[in-house]
Amino acid sequence: MNIDKVFQDQLIKITQEAAISVYPHLGKNNKIIADEAATNSMRTNLNKMNIKGNIVIGEGEMDEAPMLYIGEKVGTNNGPEFDVAVDPLEGTNFAAKNLPGAISVIAVSGKNNLINAPESYMEKISYPSGIDQNAIDLDFSLKKNLSNLADSKNKRFESLRICILDRPRHKKIIDEAKSLNIDVKLITDGDVSGALLVTEEKHNIDLFLGTGGGPEGVLAASALDTYGCGFQGRFIFDTDELKKRANKMGINNFDKKYKLNEIVKGDSLFCATGITKGDLINGIELRSNKIVVSTLITHKSQNIKKIVIGEIDIKK
Ligand code: FBP
Repeated sequence: MNIDKVFQDQLIKITQEAAISVYPHLGKNNKIIADEAATNSMRTNLNKMNIKGNIVIGEGEMDEAPMLYIGEKVGTNNGPEFDVAVDPLEGTNFAAKNLPGAISVIAVSGKNNLINAPESYMEKISYPSGIDQNAIDLDFSLKKNLSNLADSKNKRFESLRICILDRPRHKKIIDEAKSLNIDVKLITDGDVSGALLVTEEKHNIDLFLGTGGGPEGVLAASALDTYGCGFQGRFIFDTDELKKRANKMGINNFDKKYKLNEIVKGDSLFCATGITKGDLINGIELRSNKIVVSTLITHKSQNIKKIVIGEIDIKK
C-alpha cells in the first residue's frame, strides 16, 4: 500500500509542533519534562489525523508508559491503517543540556509493514547506497566491511570515515578503527541521526555501526530505505523478560539479523524536525515574529528526500 501524499504535510506539522513544544525546556536539565512535552504534543496531533494508527515503536510498553506506548491506537479511526513509529524527542540529554542534535521523529508505513519488537538494544550497521547487500555484515570484522566498502565505492581504504556512539561497549571497534588508521566520528547520543549520516556525501561518513536503541534503529531504517542505503540490525534480547515480550510479538529467533526490508516493508514516510542544530538538520530558530523549523522528510513511493523549512508566526 502506498501512502497518500496528503500525509506528508500532516506528519511534518506533527514533528514541527513536537519540536517547538520542547523549545521552552531546552537547557533546563530536565529530560523527563522535555520528553513529556514532545510526547503530549505528538499524541494530541496524531489523534487528529484521519488514520487507524497502531503504535509499533513508541515510548515504551503499556505497563510502563502512559502515552504513545506500543500497541496504543492513534488517529480518528477513519482512514488508512498505519503502523506508526515515534520518538517525539530523540536525544533527551541534548535537549536537557541544550546541546546540538535533538530531533523529533516519526515514521509511518502500511499496517504490519514495520517490525514489531519490544524496546531493547540493537546492533546496527548502515552504509551508503550502491553497495551490494552481501558486502556489509554485522558479523564481518570492521576491516572486512571497510575493504568491501572501499572496493564498491572505489575509494581509498584510509579515506573512509566511520561514525559510532561513544560508549565503553564500543571500545573494541574504536580501537580496531584506530589500528587501521580510520577516522572515527564519535557521537555522544542520537543514533537516528548518526545512522543517517551515510545518506549523503556531504556528511562524509561511509559507515555507521554499533549498539544503540532498537526503536532508533527502526526509525532510521525507514529513511535509509528511501535513500536506497543499506541497513542491518540485530535486537539484543538478553533477559528472559525481553525474550518473553519478543515472543509475544511473534519473534522466535532472538539472534536474527534483520535486513532493511524485514524491518520496513513497502512504502514508508519519515519526518524528523530539528530542535537543536545538528549534523543532519538545523535546529529551531526564533526570529522577531516567527519560528523557523527544518524537517527532513523522506517518502519512499514518491522518491522524496529533502529538507522542508517551515515558518510559523508567533501569536502575539
Ligand atoms: P534518548 O533520546 O531516549 O535519551 O536516546 C538517546 C540515545 O543516544 C539514542 O539515540 C541511542 O539509540 C540510545 O540513546 C543509546 O542508548 P545508551 O545511552 O543507553 O547507550
